[in-house]
Amino acid sequence: MLAKIASCATLGLDGALVEVEVDISPGLPSLTIVGLPDAAVNESKERVRAAVKNSGLRWPTSRITVNLAPADLRKEGPAYDLPIAVGVLIASEQAWPDGTEGAAFVGELSLDGALRHTTGILPMVAFLKEEGVRRVFVPAADAPEAALVQGIEVYPVAHLGELALHLQGVKPLAPYVPGRAPSMEEPAPYPHDFCHVKGQEHVKRALEVAAAGNHNVLMTGPPGAGKTLLARAVPSILPSMTVEEALEVTKIYSVAGLLPADEPLIRHRPFRAPHHTISYAGLVGGGHWPRPGEISLAHRGVLFLDELPEFSQKVLEVLRQPLESRQVVVARAAMSLTFPADFMLIAAMNPCPCGYFGDPVRECTCSMTMVSRYQKRISGPLLDRIDIHVDVPRVEYEKLSDDRLGEPSAAIRARVEAARRRQRERFAGTSLSCNADMGPAEIREFCPLDGEGKALLRAAMQQLHMSARAYHRVLKLARTIADLAGADRIETVHLAEAIQYRPRQVG
Ligand SMILES: Nc1ncnc2c1ncn2[C@@H]1O[C@H](COP(=O)(O)OP(=O)(O)OP(=O)(O)O)[C@@H](O)[C@H]1O
Ligand SMILES: [Mg+2]
Repeated sequence: MLAKIASCATLGLDGALVEVEVDISPGLPSLTIVGLPDAAVNESKERVRAAVKNSGLRWPTSRITVNLAPADLRKEGPAYDLPIAVGVLIASEQAWPDGTEGAAFVGELSLDGALRHTTGILPMVAFLKEEGVRRVFVPAADAPEAALVQGIEVYPVAHLGELALHLQGVKPLAPYVPGRAPSMEEPAPYPHDFCHVKGQEHVKRALEVAAAGNHNVLMTGPPGAGKTLLARAVPSILPSMTVEEALEVTKIYSVAGLLPADEPLIRHRPFRAPHHTISYAGLVGGGHWPRPGEISLAHRGVLFLDELPEFSQKVLEVLRQPLESRQVVVARAAMSLTFPADFMLIAAMNPCPCGYFGDPVRECTCSMTMVSRYQKRISGPLLDRIDIHVDVPRVEYEKLSDDRLGEPSAAIRARVEAARRRQRERFAGTSLSCNADMGPAEIREFCPLDGEGKALLRAAMQQLHMSARAYHRVLKLARTIADLAGADRIETVHLAEAIQYRPRQVG
């Protein structure tokens, strides 16, 4: 007999319908899987066989053929265990097909028949719902994640035996009832707060501007000045995510297999700080089953590259494209996948190998050539994409020993949110969300300068050897500074502050 079961594949963050056909015909006992299965799918055979037997069900002693359709789509991972097992049960008349109409099945089996946590549940369920599937059977552990999608019934399955009883109509499973709809209210407080960073007021200001317009930042300073400390506190001043943004981020973590077990929805903006030994694939994504890399895991949040010159040049250069297009294309042999990568880049570095170039107290032991070689490790095009360059000097004893707390992150975040509101109003009805996203047309429309401003920018362009990109970036930054000040037009003070964040040539 032939059984047809609906299931789902993930392609990046998108889904694709997969139909699992199981045919049982007389012949020597065997199990063959066709339809471009990868190694993990082929190993399904052993898992499904053991799981069926260990669930007190019968393994048919005939010739079993499993076809995963469409045949030209590569099938990866263990998520097809459950639909294959259900297909075998129906084809061998140990369960009835009525329960599978309008339903899809996803999940990995363990040998005893229990269902294991499976990655990518959220994007798959979201896709299945779009396709008109009404019910989805997922591993019980993943039901809260699946239930983030509204408008589709989620059946948590703990064990294959339980599902068999459901499909036989003996003991129906109950659909999962989520505690409450996904909400962004009261996420736990963020552990790093700006109030614990002493001094460095101008750096905090620069980070506030960056957060307000989603601009990239490079902090340069001697060891122990607080660069890492400041960067880690940035998510505490970013506006909270909307439910849509949180779902986007959760999908990425679901595909990467990084969702925390107790928290189906990611509610804090991500903060990713990959080590400088990270590989190309680790940063941009890739691997045998394409996984999102660090830049996608930082989507809607912060990508922090500490000790920037220590990263390999090849790794840094790949950032250039996603920094502009806000997504990354991961090329594979047969196809290429796109992952979102809209992150705020925060980078930190010492000014020279010893770390003390320009320090008023401790003498730098590097030669001028060493300093310039160190700084040249970061290419011009990458530096050009960073809107805000800020020096982080050492903190003096008086400031450090001051017991008073600085301004709390919540107060800074309130200003950032007000500036973001202005931007949302400005870009209402367009695909843009903040100033950093503006293209030349929007810059022309929203960033006009008066005569004084034009003269200032002309002088700055000549003195700082600014590129056309840098010119546009200064204008976008000035727009953000004006938004923080609640001003409708860019005034000269706003422009002057923006220009001051451009890099200065060294040696
Ligand atoms: N401005 C500051 N306010 C309070 N504590 C600070 C400040 N700056 C540094 N510290 C203290 O010094 C420690 C080291 O700071 P941090 O790691 O941020 O330095 P860094 O600038 O990243 O140095 P490196 O260049 O060596 O990476 C912090 O954990 C904190 O205890
Ligand atoms: Mg550091």
